[in-house]
Amino acid sequence: MPKIIVAIDGYSSCGKSTTAKLVARQLNYPYIDTGAMYRAVTLYFLQNHISLTNPRETQQALNNIHISFKRHAELGRNDTYLNGLNVEDEIRKMYVSEKVSDVSAIAEVRHALVAQQQRMGKTKGIVMDGRDIGTVVFPQAELKIFMTADPLIRAQRRQMELLEKGETVGLAEIAENLKMRDYIDTHRAESPLKQAEDAIYVDNSLMTLDEQVELVVRLADEQIGLS
Ligand code: DC
Repeated sequence: MPKIIVAIDGYSSCGKSTTAKLVARQLNYPYIDTGAMYRAVTLYFLQNHISLTNPRETQQALNNIHISFKRHAELGRNDTYLNGLNVEDEIRKMYVSEKVSDVSAIAEVRHALVAQQQRMGKTKGIVMDGRDIGTVVFPQAELKIFMTADPLIRAQRRQMELLEKGETVGLAEIAENLKMRDYIDTHRAESPLKQAEDAIYVDNSLMTLDEQVELVVRLADEQIGLS
């Protein structure tokens, strides 16, 4: 059966990752959460006090960063590893969210991670989510989804997600962080978040998770049939 690339882009906490993970499972494709890669780099930069304004220091740090994913099927998790250590829980914390947009606006960081992402999708048969997958990483992707949801609904979903991980954060603080990240993500010079011309726009504010997954899998099956 022909394999395709499914690229899912959109705003922070709009449910991209949850949808992408389940779509990948149904298609039997690996799933790559590129936001997790930017978060892992941010964690490394914070832990090692790397300057965000010194390109040489940034590049040197990037040479020491190895990011990988491991699927724990029994837990239904796809965990992120930074230099061999499981950082899945740490990278989702607020102090990382507060810095990740600044780190992901750095050109050297983007070049390194985009190159790694392109290697991961070289043989197709992959579901990848992020901000620039359909525009920069895989402009040739067979299926591109641009996902969004109402900002209040996104903030509520993010609050639940943090709560499930034991972090209690007020709705106003989360909404402010999402607003700030949306602004930086859409206004940065290097590959800003924007809808690819050939992406399908999905506002999932009023959709259940099952409906979102069903829609994307149906669109993917159509593309597989055409490939
Ligand atoms: O999807 P997320 O919220 O975990 O992503 C964290 C940050 O990483 C987000 O604020 C922007 C950045 N990001 C990016 O610049 N490009 C991507 N492909 C994925 C994420």
